[in-house]
Amino acid sequence: MHLSARARNIPTVINGVRCGDSEAVARALEDISQSIQDMTDKFKLMHVYVDPSVFYGIMRIYLSGWKDNPCMPKGLVYEGVQAEPMEYSGGSAAQSSLLQCFDELLGVQHEAKSGAFLSRMRDYMPPAHKLLIQDISLQPSLKSFVRQQASERLNQAFRHCVAKLLALRSYHINVVSRFITVPAAHARQLRTLRSQRQESEGEMISRAPIALEQRGTGGSGIMSFLKTPTSSPHMPFCTFWAESVESPEQ
Ligand code: HEM
Repeated sequence: MHLSARARNIPTVINGVRCGDSEAVARALEDISQSIQDMTDKFKLMHVYVDPSVFYGIMRIYLSGWKDNPCMPKGLVYEGVQAEPMEYSGGSAAQSSLLQCFDELLGVQHEAKSGAFLSRMRDYMPPAHKLLIQDISLQPSLKSFVRQQASERLNQAFRHCVAKLLALRSYHINVVSRFITVPAAHARQLRTLRSQRQESEGEMISRAPIALEQRGTGGSGIMSFLKTPTSSPHMPFCTFWAESVESPEQ
């Protein structure tokens, strides 16, 4: 689904907060929860359509860039453009604006290093998307509004949104593990064995650059980066979420 369709409830939330319309905010948050759930459901199709060994051994290499890539530590010289090498990150869903819009709306704060990486990824977004995220971050705080209103429906809608976002991210970590961590371990095993009779899947995996084993296509150190958002003590929203949610949804 196009960004605008998923994001169209964001201005409704912002306007509702401005006018003190807690019912409108709650309704829009309920829709956003549903959108995040739909994203998680679509995410599951990765397992149907993408083979982890093809992703790890082939696709990921083409998606990788020349920044924070140990295979190309100095970047890439663009002949005819400039003599000095340039560094650019590879394609990554971290450059997609939607989750960052939701983060800003819900008041999610990432641990400093992850936050800096995500902010840098905004430079790869269409400028209007980058501006939208910034605009959302400058609006009156939704989290404070939820606290002040003391409306059960609103409180629950907000909690659901945060829980759905956490569930999406924790599902994402499972996917990363299946598509990167597990094949990387398999590749290490194959290299150790140096078998003469590797099957084609094994060959594909073991040809992938060793230097990219623990790297995302955007150049992050995958598990240290991806695990921080849900485990970091620097996420005030997590504290708020824990205060107000008895049993988080999965
Ligand atoms: C084979 C499937 C996927 C793999 C292996 C994967 C891997 C990664 C990795 C390693 C990162 C860290 C940043 C980097 O270095 O690139 C990342 C970030 C991210 N990915 Fe994925 N990803 C996959 C699919 C998806 C899909 C389908 C979505 C859409 C919801 C998604 C959403 C994100 C987001 C939003 C981030 C930024 C971190 C965050 O906000 O939590 N990824 N991904």
